[in-house]
Amino acid sequence: MTSIDNLLHEDRRFPPGPEFAAAAIAQPRLYEEAASDRLAFWADQSRRLLHWNEPFTEVLDWSAAPVAKWFGDGKLNVAYNCLDRHVLAGHGDRVAYHWEGEPGDARTVTYAELTSEVKKAANALAALGVGQGDRVAIYLPNIPEAVVAMLAVARLGAIHSVVFGGFSAESLRARIDDAQARLVITADGGWRKGKVFPLKPTVDAAVAGESPVEHVLVVRRGENEVEWTDKDLWWHDVVDAASNEHEAEAFEAENPLFILYTSGTTGKPKGILHTSGGYLTQVAFTHENVFDLHPETDVFWCTADVGWITGHSYAVYGPLANGATSVMYEGTPDTPHPGRWWELIEKYKVSIFYTAPTAIRSFMKLGGAIPAKFDLTSLRVLGSVGEPINPEAWVWYRDIIGGGKTPIVDTWWQTETGAIMVSALPGITTLKPGSAQVPVPGISIAIVDDDGTPVGKDEGGLLVITEPWPAMLRGIWGDMDRYAETYWSKFADQGYYFAGDGARYDRDGDIWLMGRVDDVMNVSGHRLSTAEIESALVGHAAVAEAAVVGAHDETTGQAVVAFVILRSEYAELEDASTELRAHVATAIGAIARPRELYVVAELPKTRSGKIMRRLLQDIAEGRDIGDTTTLADTSVMSIISDKYAASP
Ligand code: WTA
Repeated sequence: MTSIDNLLHEDRRFPPGPEFAAAAIAQPRLYEEAASDRLAFWADQSRRLLHWNEPFTEVLDWSAAPVAKWFGDGKLNVAYNCLDRHVLAGHGDRVAYHWEGEPGDARTVTYAELTSEVKKAANALAALGVGQGDRVAIYLPNIPEAVVAMLAVARLGAIHSVVFGGFSAESLRARIDDAQARLVITADGGWRKGKVFPLKPTVDAAVAGESPVEHVLVVRRGENEVEWTDKDLWWHDVVDAASNEHEAEAFEAENPLFILYTSGTTGKPKGILHTSGGYLTQVAFTHENVFDLHPETDVFWCTADVGWITGHSYAVYGPLANGATSVMYEGTPDTPHPGRWWELIEKYKVSIFYTAPTAIRSFMKLGGAIPAKFDLTSLRVLGSVGEPINPEAWVWYRDIIGGGKTPIVDTWWQTETGAIMVSALPGITTLKPGSAQVPVPGISIAIVDDDGTPVGKDEGGLLVITEPWPAMLRGIWGDMDRYAETYWSKFADQGYYFAGDGARYDRDGDIWLMGRVDDVMNVSGHRLSTAEIESALVGHAAVAEAAVVGAHDETTGQAVVAFVILRSEYAELEDASTELRAHVATAIGAIARPRELYVVAELPKTRSGKIMRRLLQDIAEGRDIGDTTTLADTSVMSIISDKYAASP
């Protein structure tokens, strides 16, 4: 990450162009309206953006804090809002997705077609016994069926739990069991880096033996050989045969919509629970205003996989609620050539593009000559999400991808917040490279010190959310105590939500995010927990103790670096580093595989026995380790740093 000094010297400013501002969806009065009556503002937005079968009369009920009810006495159907109503309004022929598979196969799916597919899938799922409140796990590549599956589950008032296709069988099983999912929707395989990667065997392993899963619905995508069990059904057999007539039932605004697991500070991932009316209101509002969406003419592309919150909110629910046209791509950015993304932007005339800084930095490394081969002039708004974007990458993004003219919105939010919370609004905000800048209208953010006292301009502290917001999480699945403890206990007196991020105000009062303050790492914009990886490592027979840190990485933001002590019986284990790194990939998923793993004799601990991760991080980042007088045994550090220096 960029150092504070650098940030404070960043004085480039990009005011909105007058033409852009004149035609912009978001106008400055949004801020005034939200400031004068926040709840009335959200109520207006919700009525304007969504179809309510039964209108709500109450906006927010915070009496059971920290569990909010938004629009609690209203009823709606999320899938109807994303599909049927657009068709009924005469937009059935509008493209919902320009989908492209990695090998180059493509599909265009209109709103009418998507609506029909979802109705069929909803009928098929209902026939398999899925009803309101049931959990359905979705483990699919980035293909249209993933969207169809999510919306079919939503249409029935059931709850989806999408698990990113890169997670291992163990991770998948833990998520299936925690949510007690009765159905899994998967594929034979999907395309990645020029090859079919099989998904079905992972599901087989995850549901073998005792499992709550009754059926596995398998989409044909990879055309790879799969083993068949008596739980398995082909998607094309049951969905294609189902009727495409299905009446969407209205559910309460607080009916759960999905669970999405994310890493926290302990070993066990948290099932973040989101509900319907408030979530859809804020994703639709932010998608429209932060990206300046003109649904008749724009082509929007959020590059996130549907397995992450960014995919849920800005590849599926936000764009569909707004009747937008999106691009969806199955594969990796560099397959079969490093200009694949730019080729897709040219091909589909993408006008709004939303991606992560880690991707931008890796393109930057490859150089501007690659994007220069493609016509990117359709682009008019660029977005960034997932981690702080350093000013150099921001300016490169604007100059090389955005032709030196597009506004860039740097959007701060989390799986827990459900939707964008801090971001510039194009056409209004004068942009500053590297700063997420200002809270979205209707969102109340503060930066406070450790006691909860707000800090001033030019000062740093912890980012908190001071008022409940529509898309906020409603809890951690099956563990409401952990919900209260994790997010609401630190500033219980003030009633603030603690985000886990450090932040500072600059002298104008704009917000700069400074990275996590807890043991959560951010690798390529993906959240990983040090504790989860440590627990995977000690799960290996050879490992006695493990410590994991996130070390700075030029491209991925942070990288996983592990230090382990081997059990004496395994002291001579050959290739321990390779073996243990592979073990982490098997236990959690390839994204968690340590970049480096060092076998050490001891780990630095305080006298009370806590591993001093900060010191290990200093070593991993090559810093002088300084004062170690609080260490139980100061010789440890020199042993580790010698070892580190000697490693490849
Ligand atoms: C980080 C992704 C700086 C932050 C939507 C947060 C960011 C975590 C930004 C959530 C940004 C996300 N600037 N940091 N624009 N966006 N983060 O749950 O640390 O995968 O707490 O949600 O990513 O990650 P998550």
